[in-house]
Amino acid sequence: MDWGMKNRLSRLIQRDGRAMFLPIDHGYFQGPTTRLEEPGKTIAPLIDYVDGIMLTRGVLRNCVDPAINKPIILRVSGGTSMARRDELDQEGIITSVKEAVRLNASAVSMSVFVGAPGEHQTLLNLARLVDECEEYGIPVMAVTAVGAELEKRDARYLALASRIAAEIGARVVKTYYCEEGFEKVVKGCPVPIVIAGGPKVDSELEVFRWVYDALQKGAIGVNLGRNIWQHDHPVAMAKAIRAIIHENATPEESQQIFNAAKSESKV
Ligand code: R5P
Repeated sequence: MDWGMKNRLSRLIQRDGRAMFLPIDHGYFQGPTTRLEEPGKTIAPLIDYVDGIMLTRGVLRNCVDPAINKPIILRVSGGTSMARRDELDQEGIITSVKEAVRLNASAVSMSVFVGAPGEHQTLLNLARLVDECEEYGIPVMAVTAVGAELEKRDARYLALASRIAAEIGARVVKTYYCEEGFEKVVKGCPVPIVIAGGPKVDSELEVFRWVYDALQKGAIGVNLGRNIWQHDHPVAMAKAIRAIIHENATPEESQQIFNAAKSESKV
């Protein structure tokens, strides 16, 4: 691995081998998602607690201070929308690697839709993107996307999609947590795995349990959005999840951190 690739990865994955990424890219197909209507305001109180933010060039340019000292994971795939839910898997590459360099991205991310009609197209997108990014020392994070088919998220499917993404050359894979067999997903994927959260759930303890269990089973961290910034107390959520990732807090300890942060903070 050359110096530039190592340097970019070390900005994202911390010295303890763990990582907490905050994705705010949802608008690229969902439009002004609840509590992400003004992304700059959403991330302002959270930025200190995360190791990187994932977003599109439009939000980066218009809503984020260029003096920010956090690594950027630039989403470069898209071209679909919730208005055509059945075609969410038909993504293409919407941002060039030259643009990623211009924006000083530490990594780029894109979705692959294994098992969907767009499988072949999105896997070839990944292959081309990896070829180009490797030339410039930019890591590619592959997102194993399921579109609206959330029920697909079992170990067999996630292991298949994650392994394929790694085989094609992703340096990091973002996938989902699953209660049964997540260790097999990690074991079968030769590159680091981070987990997404999916749609917001009602109980914060449930989120802490996913994150804790995923780390115990070998994930290096999270790329977790809605269960932080759609929560009524996003800062408390970010602090509690950070404690699991970087301080090995248990779900119960994280709940206490959450409770304390919630009572001392307005957000
Ligand atoms: C999908 O909209 C994006 O790829 C998100 O970055 C990803 O789903 C993670 O965000 P969340 O935890 O909200 O699912």
